[in-house]
Formats: sequence, C-alpha cells, structure tokens
Amino acid sequence: MKHPLKSESENQEPAAGCCRANINRRLVVGGIVGIAASPALAQGDSQNADAASAPPQPGDYLVRASGDDQTTPLTPEDIVPNSAPLQAWPADSATQTVRSDNWQNLLVLTRWDPAVLSPEGQKYAAGGVVAQSAICTHEGCEVTSWIPENFLMECPCHLSRFDPRQNGAVMQGPATRKLPALALKLDGDRIVVAAGLDGRVGG
Ligand code: FES
Repeated sequence: MKHPLKSESENQEPAAGCCRANINRRLVVGGIVGIAASPALAQGDSQNADAASAPPQPGDYLVRASGDDQTTPLTPEDIVPNSAPLQAWPADSATQTVRSDNWQNLLVLTRWDPAVLSPEGQKYAAGGVVAQSAICTHEGCEVTSWIPENFLMECPCHLSRFDPRQNGAVMQGPATRKLPALALKLDGDRIVVAAGLDGRVGG
C-alpha cells in the first residue's frame, strides 16, 4: 500500500544501499569477506533487519518515535494524562530492535483514568495507557492532530476523527473503520505489548 504523504520514490521498494534493512544486508555481505567463519553473526544481522520491519509482537516494549531518547522503554509516567498522543514505535525485546523500518508500525499513545475508557478500551489498557495505530484507516495519512476540547485525534488529510478512549473508534468520517489497537500490559513499570494489532493498518 502506498503512503499518501510520501513521494513516488519514497513509496517504491528501497533501492540497493538505501535504508537500515539494506545497510544491514550490506554489512552481512561485507562480513562474509572479512569474517567468513561467522555465519551466526550474518544470520543475526538479517534477523535484526527483519525485526525492524515486522509488525508489533507480544512482548515488544515501546519507545518514543521522536526526541532525544528513542531507545528507553516507555512507562505510563512518560505519557501526560488526558493530553495529545505521544508517537511511539514498538521494539523487539529480544534484540532491542526498534521496528521503525515499517512506517505502518507507528503508534499513538494516550493515558487516561481507566474509568473514562470504554469497556474494550479498559481491556486493552495498561496503567491507563492505550495504544492505537497512527495510520488513518481512510487513505493512510498519519493521524497527527489533536482536538483538546473533546479529546479526539484528527487526521489532517480529510479530517476523520478517532476517539482514543473508545479503542480508536471513528467519531467523524470519511474513515469508516476504527484505528487498529494494541492490547498492552505492564512488565514492571514498562509498557509492553500483550497482543498484536486487532485490525488492518491503513486504508
Ligand atoms: S486519510 Fe485520513 S481522513 Fe482521509
């Protein structure tokens, strides 16, 4: 699926030499020359490249998608209650690989008093935090706007609105499908994925 905000070249498959996954592959190839007796290392690099583009998995932790610290696992305390979403990526807990090579993995996190969440939202939440896909189900723009008066997320492309407290439900079209949501749990104070996204990402 094409990303509507990306240029034609950005939507194409990455060219050789481009992007983290291909850089990893090049490192693997280079490693065969220099350390031919290290197939395990090559396999590990390949697995990391795959992990960077795989969808969120149970056991993943979450990290900020922007800012100075994009590696420290997020906790509920990192998310301001009743406020605009924080964008985040899932990260593979086994390899600490942030799954940011796939733009469809971008998430929006918000934090609430569990009492204001829908029954389904309460099941998905951890520490009052809920996570939904940041990719609009209409035509795949990033849902980046926030309507503070009624606590709704809005897509800037055609103004669809989604309610994070109702598990990403559509409150205003043209989108007709809710934002896919991730069930969360706490591992100590870290927010961790309990189950994969409950629907198809994007339009
Ligand atoms: S892509 Fe979001 S409303 Fe159209």
